[in-house]
Order: sequence, then C-alpha cells, then structure tokens
Amino acid sequence: MTRKIVVTSALPYANGPIHIGHLVEYLQTDIWVRFQKLCGNSCLYFCADDTHGTPVMIRAKQEGITPEQLIERVRGEHLRDFTGFGIEFDNYYSTHSPENRQFSERIYQGAKDRGSIVKRGIEQAYCEEDRMWLPDRYIKGTCPKCQAPDQYGDSCDVCGAHYRPTELINPYSSLSGKTPVWKNSTHIFFRLSDYETQLRNLMDAGYVQPQVRNKMEEWFQAGLKDWDISRDGPYFGFAIPGETDKYFYVWLDAPIGYMASCKNYCDRNGLDFERVWNGGEYELYHFIGKDIMYFHALFWPATLLAAGYRTANKLFVHGFLTVNGQKMSKSKGTFITAETYLRHLDPEYLRYYYASKLAPGVDDLDLSFEDFVFKVNADLVGKFANLASRSVPMITKKLGGRVGRIDEAGRRLLAALQAAKDSIVADYESLNYSAAVRTIVALADECNQYVDNHKPWSTIDADPEGTRTVLTTVVNAVRYLTIYLKPILPGFAAKVETCLEVPPLTIADIATVFEDRPIRPFERLAERVDKDKVAVMVEESKEQSQPAASTPAVPEAAPVVPQLAEPLEPVCTIEDFSKVDLRIARIARAEAVEGADKLLKLELDLGALNKQVFAGIAKAYTPEQLVGRLVVCVANLQPRKMRFGVSDGMVLASGPGGKDVFLLAADSGAQPGQRVH
Ligand code: MSP
Ligand code: ZN
Repeated sequence: MTRKIVVTSALPYANGPIHIGHLVEYLQTDIWVRFQKLCGNSCLYFCADDTHGTPVMIRAKQEGITPEQLIERVRGEHLRDFTGFGIEFDNYYSTHSPENRQFSERIYQGAKDRGSIVKRGIEQAYCEEDRMWLPDRYIKGTCPKCQAPDQYGDSCDVCGAHYRPTELINPYSSLSGKTPVWKNSTHIFFRLSDYETQLRNLMDAGYVQPQVRNKMEEWFQAGLKDWDISRDGPYFGFAIPGETDKYFYVWLDAPIGYMASCKNYCDRNGLDFERVWNGGEYELYHFIGKDIMYFHALFWPATLLAAGYRTANKLFVHGFLTVNGQKMSKSKGTFITAETYLRHLDPEYLRYYYASKLAPGVDDLDLSFEDFVFKVNADLVGKFANLASRSVPMITKKLGGRVGRIDEAGRRLLAALQAAKDSIVADYESLNYSAAVRTIVALADECNQYVDNHKPWSTIDADPEGTRTVLTTVVNAVRYLTIYLKPILPGFAAKVETCLEVPPLTIADIATVFEDRPIRPFERLAERVDKDKVAVMVEESKEQSQPAASTPAVPEAAPVVPQLAEPLEPVCTIEDFSKVDLRIARIARAEAVEGADKLLKLELDLGALNKQVFAGIAKAYTPEQLVGRLVVCVANLQPRKMRFGVSDGMVLASGPGGKDVFLLAADSGAQPGQRVH
C-alpha cells in the first residue's frame, strides 16, 4: 500500500544566507522525501522563509529598503541555493502571507476560546533613540558576575553566567549605543501548562526520539511556563486582532508557516487542505535542528491542540554541524555559504558526505575537509562511478552498445545486491543514512571485486561474448547501486538513467533485471574532488566574513561581476541606466578601515562638493596609490549607512574581485565634478 506523507523542514530566517550548517537539515529532509518517492509513496515537502521579527526589521532599515523588499529578495536567494543543492520542495512559501495571517489569527482565537490566553505587564528595555523595544540580544553591557564588558543581555560569553538584562551593569543598545530605559508594557501570554497532559500523551505516543524525550521530561519537571507571544510595535509581523500596536511574536507564526505553505499548495493544486492537513489520511513529519526543540516539542503542538488541529506523527531532530571539529567560524573560513560552496564544488559531494555521516540521533555531525575529500574520492568516485566506467564504455565502444544476458555467477552477485533491499530501506526510513551508505559501499566493493576477478579488459578481444555476459552483470550491479543511492545522489542517478535509456528508476526495479538492451555512451558520473578547491573555498569564505548577523552587509563599492547560479534577468532598462549621474572625482584622501580588510574609506573631491565613499578595493590598491588619482564616481547613489559610517556614492571599477579590481581611469585633463557618459 502506498503511503501519503507531508514533510517539513524548519523555515530558515530571512535575515541571512543559507550555509552548510543549514544544509544538514535540508539535505537530511530532501533525502528522506526522495526515498519516500523512490518507494512509490506520495510525499509532499513544504517549507518557507521565516520572515518576521526584529532582526529582519533592523536589517531592512540598515539596507535602506522595506522589510517586504528584503524578504522578497532573500526568499529568491534561499530558493536559488536550495535548488543548487538539488533540494526539491513541493512548495517554498513565506510566513508573510495571507494564509499564514489567517491561520495565526484562527489559532490565537482558538487558544483564547479555550481560556489559554492571559495578559500581564512586563518590564522591558526601550531605546528612546531608535524608538523601539530592545530584544535581549540587542542589549549589551558589563557582566554582573565577572565584570567582563560588552556581554549580551542574557548570558556572558566569558564566564558563562545567565542573567536577566536588567542585571547588566551599564547596559547599552547594541544598535544605537544609547542606554535603554526600562518601561512597563502589557504582553499577551499563552498558558502552556494548560496542555501538559496532552503534551505528555503525545510524548508517550512516540512523538520524539529517545534523547529528545529525556529533554521533554526535564522540561515537564521544571514546570511549563507561560509563553510571551506578543511584541509591541514597531515590529515586522502580524497585528494581533483586537489589540493596538501589538504583534504576534515571530515564533508564534513561524511554525504556522508549515500549514500556510501546505494550504497555498493545496489551493493551487486542487487539493483539499482540510483533508491533507487534518484528515488523518496523510502522515505528517517535521525535521528540525536541536536548537529549536522547545518550540517544536512544546509550543507548536500546544498551539495546534488549542485550536483543534492535528499534531505531527513525529518530530525528527538532528544535531549541529561542526567543521574540522569546531563550530563554524567566519574568521577560520568555515562559515561557508551555500552560494560559495556551489561556486567551487559539486553539490553531490556534500549530499554524499552528509549522508555518510547522518544517524537517527541528535548528535552533532562533523565535516572534516580531509575526510570529505577522502570519502568522495575513495567511495563516490573510486567505487560507484568507477564501476560504471569499468563497464559501460567497453560495451558502447567494443560490443556494439548492447548488454546481453546474465549467467549463473552474475546472478549470484546480483542476488546479494537484491537481498540488501530490506535493510537499506529500513535504514533510510529510520534516518540511519550512514548505515545505508555503509551497506551500499560494501556491495560496491563486492561488485568491483567481481570485475577484478573477471578482468573483462583482458578477455574482450579473445572472448567478446563471454565478456559481454560479465559486463551485463556489472551494468546490472550499477543499476541496483544507483537505485539505492538515488535519494542521496539524484544527479548521478539521472546520468545513469540516461545511459540506460530507462524511465526514472524506483525501488520496484530492484526486482527486475536489465538484459538484451541497448545502452548509450556514458557521461562521467562523478569527478574527483581536488583538495585545492576546498582550500580556495575556505579562503574565499574568510574574505567574505562579516562581523555579526545584525550588522549590515558590506556593499561592494566596485561593481564586480556577479557570479549568479541563474541567468541574469534583464531588469535594468536603458532608461534606468541613464539615470545614473557619473562624475569625475579626485581622490582627496584614502585610508584603511579598521575591521574591514576589503574596504577603503575615500574622500572624493567633486569640485563643488566632497563625498565620503567606502570602496571594496583594498585588496587591489593601497591608499598611497590612490591619493590624487582621477576616478569616475556615481554621484546620485542613495547614501547607505554602513557599520563604519555613511557611504555616499560609488567609484567605478570592475574585475573578478580581490586583487583583480581595476578602477576606471579618467582622462588626465578631466576636471573634478565634470559629468561623463
Ligand atoms: N526560523 C527558525 C525556524 C522556524 S521553524 C518554524 C530558525 N531558522 S534558522 O535559519 O536559524 O535555522 C533553520 C534550521 O537550520 C533549524 O532547524 C536549525 O536547527 C538548522 N541549522 C542552522 N544552523 C545549523 C547548523 N550549524 N547545523 C545543523 N543545523 C543547523 O531556527
Ligand atoms: Zn561574566
């Protein structure tokens, strides 16, 4: 019987790029979804961008755009990155959507009707300069325990103490630097403890993995506290019905985004949402990382229960990524974005590597570059791709491009491959991908051994038909291994399907053999990974590093060639372009910018006025080389507030970046301020 399944991954925040840490989750989920499809089940995979909250609001302000513009752009970037890694959603939506507003209001009303909503005054930091309430992470100050300066509002990085922001000595806003005032305001709370019995039942029914269950027991022991679900304006989110200037806290509407994405998909595909989400016909699974367990093990099911919606069958929690044994680090270059990775390496390498390490528990997972290079070259290339390159070309080049029939010895080898099906299927189903990969690698070893024993390259001339028989077995082995690897390596599988001229392979094909058929010349299935490319990627990630998530991105003053994964859309018309006011400028001063090794601070003399510009050309020019030089500058660019000050223009330069950036030269007779075209 085929199953109907709905799967979600956590919704990435719309205030930053997708990185290789996120990819642990999206690849784990995508592999599971592809596995379900391989088994003939109907499986829908929903996700969305998590768009609300203070960080998005602040980031948009820093970039001088609206939050709506920011989330629109970031959603496109996220989707581009996911697509680049072969992650296939059935719907990738946004929490800033009408469906999400509707469900959020409905769930809130449900909780209210159940008497689970209460109001209470709380003391909170307020910044009079920015006229906004400050979440704890935007307050800094001196640690009350160890006196370390510049610690966050909730805990100290130096001594590890936890405290309330009111306890900080000399608190200040990390945004404005001003001392906040403490003000009282009424907040709305969700009484989580109303759902304790139901949550315990859920847990007993197997909602979570054993390690997560232990955590839940701890939380129950400690007592379930009321959850603050409102934020005062200004706040980018949904206004709470019946209240003035109060908004749903981002974490209230974020998981509801799963439903909104599903609803939006159902409406566009003629499915009945109530049946899909609530009808019991579909199984429902959430994939998340261990940092957001509390939200998904307690708050989220409780809010669903409050409004009479079904809860998920299971919550699958995974651990965190470490790189070379340590937390991802911008200064070490191990904070690698999806975009940077894709510029240097094949996505299938990372899919394979993560799969080879993923287990069902919540343990962290380490990406060791040495091990990565080794596994990709030894297994993916050396065992799987190699088996194909030891068989297919001989058939297409010397045996008329046809496979023949399998003999008794071949049947024995293939029977071993077929017999592994149940255990591989069980391992995928239970998220034990590393065990599945181990089994598949061991099978590939046997197959390569079979080739070594039969030495088809030495028999081909004297005994072409006998060799055809051997190679037919090998091609069948490649086909079975490909079926088993297909959830992990969709690109590899697609190439094999093309070569065999078969429709998309499914698990049912394990029961059949492939005989007396033509095959097509072969496209290399995987290339060796070059460890220098890994080194370059790490180097580049160092250069791109930015100090903190809440600081603005450093804009490239030099318009370097964009390296896009997709073709450029023609969005800039000639009329748009003619609006650009280009002027000759003399560089009056140039100096390095502390904390930004790519930037130079330039003072431009435009005749009648001077402008300050931050240009990303420090790797290409020293300040001394620049002073006195005539350049072309965009004079009517909207000033942009950066961490280091305001940048009021742009100097024209081009090149691939780094050392290779070239300033547009101006004629030595040109006058500062003169207009150019
Ligand atoms: N927006 C919330 C989730 C809301 S779900 C209703 C969020 N976003 S996130 O962008 O920070 O993380 C998205 C997912 O990626 C989370 O499940 C998180 O655990 C996971 N990971 C983020 N960094 C990770 C690692 N370094 N390693 C493994 N998973 C990581 O949380
Ligand atoms: Zn301290």
